[in-house]
Amino acid sequence: MTTSIDAQYDQYLSAGLALDLTRGKPCSDQLDLSCALEDMIAGNFKTVDGTDARNYGGLLGIPEARALGGTLLDVDPKYIMAGGNSSLTLMYQFLVWRLRTWQENDPMQTFKFICVVPGYDRHFTICEHLGIEMISVGFDADGPNMTKIEALVRQDQNIKGIWCVPKHSNPTGHTYSQATVERLANLPNLAGKDFILMWDNAYAAHDLDPRTMPLTNLMARAQAAQTAHQVALFASTSKITFAGAGLAFCGLSEPMLQGFETFLTPQMIGFDKVNQLRHARLLKDSNDIAKHMAAHRVILEPKFQRVQEKLMPLAEADLATWSKPGGGYFVSLDLKAASATQVIALANAAGVKLTPAGATFPYGRDPEDKNIRIAPSFPDMIELDQALDVLVCCIVKASEMDR
Ligand SMILES: Cc1ncc(COP(=O)(O)O)c(C=O)c1O
Repeated sequence: MTTSIDAQYDQYLSAGLALDLTRGKPCSDQLDLSCALEDMIAGNFKTVDGTDARNYGGLLGIPEARALGGTLLDVDPKYIMAGGNSSLTLMYQFLVWRLRTWQENDPMQTFKFICVVPGYDRHFTICEHLGIEMISVGFDADGPNMTKIEALVRQDQNIKGIWCVPKHSNPTGHTYSQATVERLANLPNLAGKDFILMWDNAYAAHDLDPRTMPLTNLMARAQAAQTAHQVALFASTSKITFAGAGLAFCGLSEPMLQGFETFLTPQMIGFDKVNQLRHARLLKDSNDIAKHMAAHRVILEPKFQRVQEKLMPLAEADLATWSKPGGGYFVSLDLKAASATQVIALANAAGVKLTPAGATFPYGRDPEDKNIRIAPSFPDMIELDQALDVLVCCIVKASEMDR
């Protein structure tokens, strides 16, 4: 017998939809907020210290771009490298450098990383690519399950690091509490001397709710815990200005920064300093950043609100729970049944692309097959409405097929 949900699904199947909720990309209205970048040079290529930004050199970045990175990561600019357009590249290169040291110290070992799940798929891809084994640990309300993490690093010295997205975590939206940040700052004291905390603060300035809890400063806590050489901070302007043409930043203690600069030197003479200059002139200080992010919020907040409204029938039918993030780019949806693969296949067939099932877990395997990551920033409101209607329909349909 055909149910009303089957009939609704069949309508979507024949509607020829082509919608996409996969990647957390800014929409074109958001990109338009930064068009003034184009006017920031106007023939003046001199940086504050008199350097001609067009020329070679300055691998750590120009002073005003390092200051921008320092503002985003809440550290002194002397700890900052301002790079090119991708913080992922800096993370990857940083781990290649660390891996070399681990291998020198322990050539026969397999190295491992703790991955907080659900998490950012590209972090997991970096580990896979570098042959680093991944161990999943889940979240508590305050952030990662610290008791489990502390026990793991005490037991196994081959665990060389952990991935953290400490604010508006991708995809759950967690912001780590002060107590969690303090325990993380102390973690290298429990682990081996080569342990590194990868602190990807990609959403440092991306509050949807301006009353969002501020993030405790990891570098300051690490200095107090004497672990500052074992934390690596990252951020970028990818979701502030142009996602494909922004700036990335790395924050390290001074000796680590020097070491990383030496490691990168054979690869390049310097990053794109003209783009650094453009960005530093557009975003001169924390007030500029706050104003700019408030304009993003005007575009993003209604989309995140719409996700909450559209998913509501799933709560009433007890089919799913989901996050209500205070910022960032994602909503994390957990189905009650182990049917994420089936739901995503149904949605794909109806013309709505969703992030593949399992993508938020190491090796692309969600052990419970329940998590779906929703990225509402890119589609317009009409497309978002349609895509969410299809998603809800597919979840209900999958629950009926299960019976
Ligand atoms: C947590 C996180 N880190 C990094 C990135 C990508 O950063 P970038 O564009 O600077 O490489 C993303 C993009 O979605 C992200 O969600």
